[in-house]
Amino acid sequence: MAMITIPEFPKTKKLKSLAVLTSGGDAPGMNAAVRAVVRYSIANDIEVFGIMKGYSGLLEGQIEAMKLSSVANIIQRGGTVLKTSRCPEFMKKQVRKEAAYILERKGIEGLVVIGGDGSFAGASLLEKETGFRTIGVPGTIDNDIFGTDDTIGFDTAVNTAIEAIDRIRDTASSHGRLFLVEVMGRNSGFIALSTGIGGGAETIVVPEAEMTLPMIRKSIERGMNRGKTSSIIVVAEGPKPGLATRIGRGLEKAGFDSKICTLGHIQRGGVPTAHDRMLGSVLGAAAVAYLASGKSGGMVGITRNEVAFTPFKEVIGKKKTLPKVAMALAEILAT
Ligand code: F6P
Repeated sequence: MAMITIPEFPKTKKLKSLAVLTSGGDAPGMNAAVRAVVRYSIANDIEVFGIMKGYSGLLEGQIEAMKLSSVANIIQRGGTVLKTSRCPEFMKKQVRKEAAYILERKGIEGLVVIGGDGSFAGASLLEKETGFRTIGVPGTIDNDIFGTDDTIGFDTAVNTAIEAIDRIRDTASSHGRLFLVEVMGRNSGFIALSTGIGGGAETIVVPEAEMTLPMIRKSIERGMNRGKTSSIIVVAEGPKPGLATRIGRGLEKAGFDSKICTLGHIQRGGVPTAHDRMLGSVLGAAAVAYLASGKSGGMVGITRNEVAFTPFKEVIGKKKTLPKVAMALAEILAT
């Protein structure tokens, strides 16, 4: 990751206090972002609070003043020290009104939400309806957020999945076996694509591209015809996890034995890579700088190695497309 510049801190700051929360699925590097929000705020004389357990903790009033030492020794830890939750209740207007009231009563003037698309939807509505200033920091292993090239946690998750594939390949090649490895990513194939290319998979199955059973069979046969005795197929879980098992059953009917390995939450935990620590640190500080200069109602992300602010309305609900060129490359390199 190249050095990324942080937006300049304004001469006259537009807020005196802010709070930070993590929401949705945890992602390695979230702690680096929390640490940056806290320390960059304090360095600029902004009072900073940590909200526990995402929006659920906010509604329960689990809000604590943060000091420099509150975020000591966390940059190398996976997960999130602030804890997290998925909070469907926050989709209710009345609940958001209550949340704004809780924040204002504590004297808090802005909110940094580290999370994914659903968490940003809550933040956006909160600001629209109550005027409470919010800013999003993209934190999810899926890398499926529109308006940023990269999300906190993606790099670590891909590295973890590739390490797993390297291990699986030892058995695959020793026994001459076919393995189907299911990776996370929900409706998006970014983890599968990067894991597949980086792990040298023979076939990659993603929700964004058609890959039928006969197509998978053909790719296995093509490998066998040129002397391959083992194969690794990376399968993105898609909207309904268990796809690798379903493909395995289909292949069995066609006479191919396969082993299934679902990586699951193993991909979400663990020590964040240098890249995710750097990304979390830069985006956390940038979020504070933007809020202080009066920018809110949007997400701070990375576009072509530059920190960029994108309004929530241009982010939420939009589908980030898998680069076609990378899909084509994966196919060429697998032959
Ligand atoms: O969004 C991150 C993610 O890990 C997805 O890849 C996965 O589908 C989902 O969260 C799993 O969610 P949970 O941990 O709530 O089961």
